Amino acid sequence: MRVGSILLREATAADIDTLYSFRTLPEVNRWMLRTSVDPDTFRREWLAVPDSETEFSCVAEADGELVAIGFLDIEDGMGQPGMPTGTEAGIGYLVRPEASGRGVASAVARGLVSAAFDHLGIRRVTAGCYADNVASARVLEKVGMRREQHGVQDSWHAELGWVDGYTYAILAEEWAASAANRGPGWPASEMDDRTT
Ligand SMILES: CC(C)(COP(=O)(O)OP(=O)(O)OC[C@H]1O[C@@H](n2cnc3c(N)ncnc32)[C@H](O)[C@@H]1OP(=O)(O)O)[C@@H](O)C(=O)NCCC(=O)NCCS
Repeated sequence: MRVGSILLREATAADIDTLYSFRTLPEVNRWMLRTSVDPDTFRREWLAVPDSETEFSCVAEADGELVAIGFLDIEDGMGQPGMPTGTEAGIGYLVRPEASGRGVASAVARGLVSAAFDHLGIRRVTAGCYADNVASARVLEKVGMRREQHGVQDSWHAELGWVDGYTYAILAEEWAASAANRGPGWPASEMDDRTT
């Protein structure tokens, strides 16, 4: 999928060392929930994505360089027996520090939300961040997600201890209703659609 100047695509084996190098930088890692990433596990997990029915994580390229990772996992919401399954998607992202502050995460988030609603038929997309992660909260708000929870000291941070967390969500009908407001820099409808 193209989102402005950003290309979102599946990771290949040739990408994995570069992805690992910026995924594990301290300035990136300090905002992630998983703070210890084994290189072999990392490689195995990325190579499994193309065959997964529930994970659609991707890499972002700008001018041929890898600049970000986007995470998209199909999940179940909460509910009683009989609940339709696989109707929610959780998204996330991280940007290579040299490429930050240029709208990359915003483009990735737009692509992930579009992939979930326009191509995977998801009903509700969710995301979470530490409340101190102001840039990430802004990215989620710019893509049209609603802050649904401010959890007071609900989140553990390895350096800071118990801190506040935010959760965000957007429904398919809200995404559809906002379509008229999307201009350049938002995803076009074409993509390699693995669901068909
Ligand atoms: C957080 C992160 C994803 C942002 O990526 P990015 O490509 O720089 O984000 P964008 O440029 O698309 O947008 C960032 C927005 O936050 C704003 N912002 C950044 N720092 C800010 C701050 N300290 N206070 C207020 N707004 C801030 C920017 O101005 C921009 O908003 P705007 O477009 O309205 O001006 C990136 O820094 C990163 O990967 N951090 C480490 C990993 C991480 O935190 N991942 C998310 C986990 S929830």
